[in-house]
Amino acid sequence: MAQEDVFKKLVSHCKEYGFVFPSSEIYDGLGAVYDYGQNGVELKNNIKQYWWQSMVLLHENIVGIDSAIFMHPTIWKASGHVDAFNDPLIDNRDSKKRYRADVLIEDQIAKYDDKINKEVAKAAKKYGDAFNEEEFRSTNARVLEHQAKRDALHERYTKAMNAGPDLDELRQIILDEEIVCPISGTKNWTEVRQFNLMFSTEMGSTADGAMKVYLRPETAQGIFVNYLNVQKTGRMKIPFGIAQIGKAFRNEIVARQFIFRMREFEQMEMEFFVRPGTEMEWFRKWKENRMKWHVALGMGEDNYRFHDHEKLAHYANAATDIEFRFPFGFKELEGIHSRTDFDLGNHQNLSGRKLQYFDPETGESYVPYCVETSIGVDRMFLAVLSHSYREETLENGEKRTVLSLPAPLAPVKAAVLPLIKKDGLPEFAQKVMDELKYDFNCQYDEKDSIGKRYRRQDAIGTPFCITVDHDSLSDGCVTVRDRDTMQQQRVPVAGLRAMLDGKVNLNNLLRKL
Ligand code: GAP
Repeated sequence: MAQEDVFKKLVSHCKEYGFVFPSSEIYDGLGAVYDYGQNGVELKNNIKQYWWQSMVLLHENIVGIDSAIFMHPTIWKASGHVDAFNDPLIDNRDSKKRYRADVLIEDQIAKYDDKINKEVAKAAKKYGDAFNEEEFRSTNARVLEHQAKRDALHERYTKAMNAGPDLDELRQIILDEEIVCPISGTKNWTEVRQFNLMFSTEMGSTADGAMKVYLRPETAQGIFVNYLNVQKTGRMKIPFGIAQIGKAFRNEIVARQFIFRMREFEQMEMEFFVRPGTEMEWFRKWKENRMKWHVALGMGEDNYRFHDHEKLAHYANAATDIEFRFPFGFKELEGIHSRTDFDLGNHQNLSGRKLQYFDPETGESYVPYCVETSIGVDRMFLAVLSHSYREETLENGEKRTVLSLPAPLAPVKAAVLPLIKKDGLPEFAQKVMDELKYDFNCQYDEKDSIGKRYRRQDAIGTPFCITVDHDSLSDGCVTVRDRDTMQQQRVPVAGLRAMLDGKVNLNNLLRKL
């Protein structure tokens, strides 16, 4: 099945099984805003817990906070978001549709890549084992022609983006490449304009009018403005980190790919404060640490890669993305940035408050440098779900849809199923529930055939189904079915808790870090 179709199926699966619903659906939805359902919220909470514990529990020098979404508007001046958090936009006069100019050009670059890949795939099929891809790419006339156009476009685009961006040049590239609006099919484009991504609203009302405040576009600034509070009250010594999980808001223009790019989303960010001059060493350590966190989930090392930034954000002296292989290709999952003293330095200047640290080891005072790790909860959720979703045909020809979620992240850890609804089996099964419910999120289900119940649990990724049958009443054992292998084993009820714990406890993941 084409990856695009898999993705469409995943989106409807998310709705059908209570993971993700379009927001305000009964009013036809709200663009790029989503709600999490009964299973989605459990998966999301487990992801957050995995991240939080890996930061705060496993590092003595990292503490957490929970800062407000509304903050003093000057914070966004200091952070650079008022002046520089912009996307270059262009409108098509015929369709009246608005696009990001940079995305239109990046899509055009991707088209050249597609053309090259198609030529390579065609040749690989034709020549079979004798095919030498490297040689083909460096000699085939059509591939070389596409590659030359692609490289020239990429170079021109990078230059335009690095020059401010140069809005006239971005428009000229769109015209020269003859990029058309996907809706109207015309090249009737407006000028390119900068558009700030922050949502604003008004707070309070005074005689002089209300104060304009922003919905935070990142949680990081809540950490920076509390740096001194935490350092002093926690008696933190550099190097130390502050972690936070919370909502962020961006008025994304190209909001697509489901929960990949949303207007309201959640971030897990950690700002690690270090002595100036040591930031590159910490940047490397955090790159390694964060990749380990991902790989421990067992979703395949080759589904991740680093992508170092050529064009650095206004606050960074080094930056990399951890990219994940989503159904629509490798895309950013997490950002790791060396933010220098940009944020604390600017807050010190604009607030007039000293944000320096006295280093007892060197006897110096300085504004600390900062290395940030920042990952979207929703994007992580999509990575986990898209990797786990599978449609299988079983040996007996039956089909099943299964979510092979990493067991510690699964919304429901075990389902307890009496084989039939009589003969004392439901009562026995309820006792099993009582034994397990304090440690694990379990579901009791006695409706429909056992096969249908298995399918329902497969579809929400429950790692274990525990069936109570007539023998259970006499031998005190139950049948435990494994979601992935579908193999079954008899387990004494008294041993269930330890068996499940060994498979689904979050600590099993944390111990790998
Ligand atoms: N404080 C740094 C910062 O916010 P970013 O690269 O803009 O950096 C960090 O965002 C992470 O937040 C991204 O890697 C992504 O996982 C997530 N993210 C950003 N914008 C998002 C959006 N519109 N929807 C969902 N997740 C988003």
